[in-house]
Amino acid sequence: MVSPVKLAHIALKTTDIKASSTWYKSVLDAQAVFENEMLCFLTYDDEHHRVVLAQDDAYEPGGPSAGLHHVSFTYQSLDDLFDTFERLQARGIRPHWCINHGPTLSMYYLDPMSNQVELQIDTMSAEEAIEFVGSEAFRANPIGIEFDPHELNKRRKSGEPAESLTAYGP
Ligand SMILES: [Fe+2]
Repeated sequence: MVSPVKLAHIALKTTDIKASSTWYKSVLDAQAVFENEMLCFLTYDDEHHRVVLAQDDAYEPGGPSAGLHHVSFTYQSLDDLFDTFERLQARGIRPHWCINHGPTLSMYYLDPMSNQVELQIDTMSAEEAIEFVGSEAFRANPIGIEFDPHELNKRRKSGEPAESLTAYGP
């Protein structure tokens, strides 16, 4: 079994992304590497994004709905991520959303309380990731490209290299 190497980031729901981003920038002395009216990625250390803010108009601050959007754990390698995918699948735990974000390859799971947990690998250096999220391509599609984990796993097992499996784009 493999454990993640770090906790990657926290992602919080907000009904006022501008107010939240201003607050976190000032409290953490953080900078936005990307922000629009839906999403804001903040960095203050060697991680390309450590805090994410996600606009969610249905969120009730202080109300019954939890404010946590997801927590994210980084694995060392594509093999570690997919070995974990297989181990969890054997226990009936399956991702509900798999996406190549560009800087990361990510699988999203739901815990028993329906909190969202992202298991991911970095596919770019921190410098490349910051450059990527500043690009026009990212502005046009800040979410990423969905993938089928079974298909990707099959290609992995046939010996296709990780760089090719994590390549972003068609
Ligand atoms: Fe995330």
